[in-house]
Amino acid sequence: MRHLLILILLATLGSCGKKSFSESDLQTTSPDGQLNVAFKRSESGQITYTLTKNGQTVIANSALGFTVEGLGKATQDFEIEDLDLTKGSEVYDLPWGEVAHVDAAYSEIELSLKHVPNKLTFSVQARLFDDGLGFRYVFPKQNGSGLSSDTLRILEEQTQFNLEGDPLVNWGPGDWNSYENLLELTRLSEIDATKYDNPNELIHRVVPNNAIMTPASLKLENGVHISFHEASLIDYPGMTLGVTSTGFESVLVGSPNRDAKAVVTLPFNTPWRTIAVEDRAIDFVANTLMLNLNAPNKLGDVSWFKPKTYAGVWWEMFLGKGTWDYASNQSAVDSEGNVMKGQARHAANTANVKAYIDFCADNNIEGLLVEGWNTGWEIWLDSLKRLEAFDFVTPYPDYNLREVVDYGKSKNVEIVMHHETSGVPERYEQQMDTAFALMQELGLHSVKSGYVGNFPNGEFHHGQYGVRHYRKVFETAAKYQVAVNPHEPIKPTGERRTLPNAISAEGARGMEYNAFGNYKQVNQPSHLPSIVYTRGLAGPFDYTPGIFNLELDGWRGADDEVLSTLAKQLGAYVVIYAPIQMVADLPEHYRQEVKASSPTGVNLDKENYHVAMKRYIREMATDWDATYPLAGELGEYAVVARKVKGENRYFIGGIAGDKDQEAVVVLDFLEEGFSYELSLFSDAEDAHFRTNKTAITVKNSFVKKGDTLRVQMKQAGGFGGVIGMGVAE
Ligand code: NOJ
Ligand code: CA
Repeated sequence: MRHLLILILLATLGSCGKKSFSESDLQTTSPDGQLNVAFKRSESGQITYTLTKNGQTVIANSALGFTVEGLGKATQDFEIEDLDLTKGSEVYDLPWGEVAHVDAAYSEIELSLKHVPNKLTFSVQARLFDDGLGFRYVFPKQNGSGLSSDTLRILEEQTQFNLEGDPLVNWGPGDWNSYENLLELTRLSEIDATKYDNPNELIHRVVPNNAIMTPASLKLENGVHISFHEASLIDYPGMTLGVTSTGFESVLVGSPNRDAKAVVTLPFNTPWRTIAVEDRAIDFVANTLMLNLNAPNKLGDVSWFKPKTYAGVWWEMFLGKGTWDYASNQSAVDSEGNVMKGQARHAANTANVKAYIDFCADNNIEGLLVEGWNTGWEIWLDSLKRLEAFDFVTPYPDYNLREVVDYGKSKNVEIVMHHETSGVPERYEQQMDTAFALMQELGLHSVKSGYVGNFPNGEFHHGQYGVRHYRKVFETAAKYQVAVNPHEPIKPTGERRTLPNAISAEGARGMEYNAFGNYKQVNQPSHLPSIVYTRGLAGPFDYTPGIFNLELDGWRGADDEVLSTLAKQLGAYVVIYAPIQMVADLPEHYRQEVKASSPTGVNLDKENYHVAMKRYIREMATDWDATYPLAGELGEYAVVARKVKGENRYFIGGIAGDKDQEAVVVLDFLEEGFSYELSLFSDAEDAHFRTNKTAITVKNSFVKKGDTLRVQMKQAGGFGGVIGMGVAE
């Protein structure tokens, strides 16, 4: 009888008693106690969150919600049905990376919500690490709601990121189609993104809202730095951040072919919305929040790929020395096969490629990209013919693919394949298995792909269609032990943790833009420092540094030039992370003499070979045990050191933007008890990014832990230093 009474009592409680949570229940604190995320339910049933650091506001009260086709807008009238508080950690090794090992603890809070009017249920899962917050929406199968199937059609996501005051923002436009835009440093209130909308570019710039792309980094008025992005973007559109009067609100990339921006099958979770939080801007370069929020390595042993520097039969096409296509330049060659003066020849011919392989072998460069090797380049920009331009397996008649591959192997140089899809993902999906199988047969393990052009079906590169395609390519390539470096890609969101064959990507204005026009149109001095705090935070970036002939002498008019000093080119190798780094210039340009001075009287340029090439790029590492963020400001400059994987050797680099900068670097990251030889390549006193670009000072010295370096970087200048193998004192 007593039991029965208790049962009845419990049943009554269960049926009428909703769980109620007080405000103090709905929050959690990061393992180090500095960050706090707190949720609230308002009287009207709105769910909001705030993020603070040591009590200071990072994200002000911000609402969450969705608009779902058939169910309407769900931003008010929520009930909190359940609450879960847990702790966990992410401990993992990266096969290659800017850091070898990550050990990150987090506190998690998950709120199960029910939207009362339409019975939509989902939860908000928030993970708070010491270096930031990630949260995502988790949709279970819907039982009670009016949905007739397991398909959820999301018209918009309404996630707010409200801010106090008018913070400084390093941003690029929230372009649905291209990530190759200029970057700016302005106040939040000054953001004007729609001016970048431009249907006249080869890949249309589509900026329908006053919205910015992610990553974007901010300096808040209280001095705290934050960076917005997303992690694990799978089968969902990319998110841009629409500017509101109080901060930002998510604007998903849409589709011209349907109203719903996302169509997902339940159960489903969105990508994580990430807010990295750091005291200093430069600390973002070592922030692992985004990687922590991706699934572990699914590919297992990936030792078939090796991080490396690579050269390319590439820049010569941008300079006009060579061409991608074969047919249109056969008239450039005389009856003996010599290229006639002033003419460009098909660059990917066997003899030329072999000469590049020799250059690579002489300079410890283990990869060589060959573009224009396959048929189709005569028609690849034709709006109709491009649909069937490439098959990715048929070489031009003057290119003996197997001979070149074998010659490369004999010299420890692996050919990097090139698959330009001419912006036609569907054709690529039909052909990629065959293309990757050929690579596997040849023993080639990396490919650079490209998507120049609008997708023929009108879908945007950054919409759900594009997101699916790029992921599918990584997954398919992995089956053939192929690593992919897509150009014109979807922004990286940390997929490289799960699929390490996502080695690098473009998705920003790279070096190529410096060949697209005169100095007023090319990448300006602040571009590369801005990359560090925006696109660079999304993951490896195939910037293609290392142009030494910065005046483009011999190839271009007087006004065509790269706005950089030589020392900045060297610094970029360290500051911009990628496990494949290009040595982008023509072989002959590395052999030119530069003005080099050496206060310590080191032996320079003995073989009339570029000293920076010989002693810096040749030794350049692309895989690291650790990254040390040293100094920097949003959009202005960045100074970083990295420890070479498995070695007691370091690189240090700096890049400057619009102003001269002094880098004051305390070498406290070096190992105690060693003396290291430092070769430092920095802007000479009279270096100038327009008039005296290659003036570089080369200084050798011995350094040890705790020493302080003061390095002067000129406007658009920088420095690179190799800190040689430590010798026990
Ligand atoms: C654009 C890429 O960014 C560039 O690197 C490549 O050479 C061309 N497309 C051709 O594929
Ligand atoms: Ca590009």
